Amino acid sequence: MSAPRGQFSSNFGFLMAAAGSAVGLGNIWGFPTNVAANGGAAFVVIYLVLAFLLAYPVLMAELAIGRYARSNMVKALREISPGPVSRAAGTLTGLGGILVASLILSFYAIVAGWMVAHLADPVATLVGAKEAAAWMTGDSTARNFTFTAIFSGFTMLIIASGVEKGIERWSTLLMPSLILLLLLLIVYVLAQPGAFQGLEAYLIPDFSKLSPELLLSAMGQAFFSLSLGVGTMLIYGSYLSKQESLPRLGALVTLIDVGIAFTAGLLILPAMYVAQEAGTQIFSEAGDLIAGPGLILQVLPALFDSMGTTGLFVAIAFFALMSIASLTSSISMLEVPVAFSIESLGLKRKPATLMMGLIIFLISTVIIFNFDSLFGLVISISTEYGQPLLGVALCIFAGWIWRRDQLLMEMQEGHEGIENTLFWKIWPWYVRIVCPLLILAAFAQTVL
Ligand code: PFF
Repeated sequence: MSAPRGQFSSNFGFLMAAAGSAVGLGNIWGFPTNVAANGGAAFVVIYLVLAFLLAYPVLMAELAIGRYARSNMVKALREISPGPVSRAAGTLTGLGGILVASLILSFYAIVAGWMVAHLADPVATLVGAKEAAAWMTGDSTARNFTFTAIFSGFTMLIIASGVEKGIERWSTLLMPSLILLLLLLIVYVLAQPGAFQGLEAYLIPDFSKLSPELLLSAMGQAFFSLSLGVGTMLIYGSYLSKQESLPRLGALVTLIDVGIAFTAGLLILPAMYVAQEAGTQIFSEAGDLIAGPGLILQVLPALFDSMGTTGLFVAIAFFALMSIASLTSSISMLEVPVAFSIESLGLKRKPATLMMGLIIFLISTVIIFNFDSLFGLVISISTEYGQPLLGVALCIFAGWIWRRDQLLMEMQEGHEGIENTLFWKIWPWYVRIVCPLLILAAFAQTVL
């Protein structure tokens, strides 16, 4: 007899866990960076539209498949497949999802480790450990290894405690803290000289920058941000009660995700201009706003440094925010291979967590020791190729392979009167045809 399956104890618990997965470095780092590089609010508008037109329908497919099958991605896709060929395709797609989730976690844990190191730095400075503080921000292999290990350890501890006591409890604790920290930081930064210019750069759209590339990078951003394609949302859906409305909860998760991305922009772009006012270079030689790691790891720390002792506390708040955002996302990634090991390989949760956590940490270690050649490559394979392709596969499973009546019945569960909604009229066709075509267009763009 296997142990009973975990389940979220309330819809609020699910909401915090799923929003926790969605809200991560992609929102607070990736989104504002993309905005900075792509014409301010023009990108914001496109992103908001795509999040609802493209990402939300795929999210619904994942949640529905997961809740219907009540199992991990491999088993779930097999279960909705009627014949041997589609079942084999289900196994392959499910294993692909587990692999890509693991790869994303392997680089994500390194970046999250930087966040924890930058959180520990001002703490060490405050207690007078100057050398330790310098080491923490020193960008060495030893530093990367140590903090990736610490971050991976936390992720494993939470996942080892299970769905309700681990994922749900920590997400309901951390997500409100994240929102509070974000708001406090915004209030502080907006009161600094130069902030207004940042708001202008963020909120006044420059539509001359609109291009097919911008459209497609907004699509990729939406996909990464909502944790789609790799079975994270599928497995969270599998822990959700049949009494909850999927379209409503999915819409809330999407709203929280885009809401926090948008709000993070109100922090990051003004902070950049405040940094400029304080003497930090925020434009590259080509005249673009500095994006990528330089923004979070150089521009903002330089700003905090210029603020004296107050800056230490602001730095602690900021990197605590980043670490929390990373942790609620990383646990959702680790849950994907762990749920598979429990349900399909017959392991118990603790050994499954230890085994999968260590394997992924090993991949992180290989990346850390071959940083220049592997880091970018793993990001590109997993997020530019893996996620969109798996997204297409999931749409095909939901739209073409899964029996229509079962799919529709799953949508009706917990949502009385769904038959009269626009969602009911549009979504089933939309996920079948429009979504795969749109994603394929994005994919073609990255490949060609
Ligand atoms: N959504 C996360 C972020 O925006 O940082 C990243 C992510 C989490 C991607 C979980 C994929 C995943 F399965």
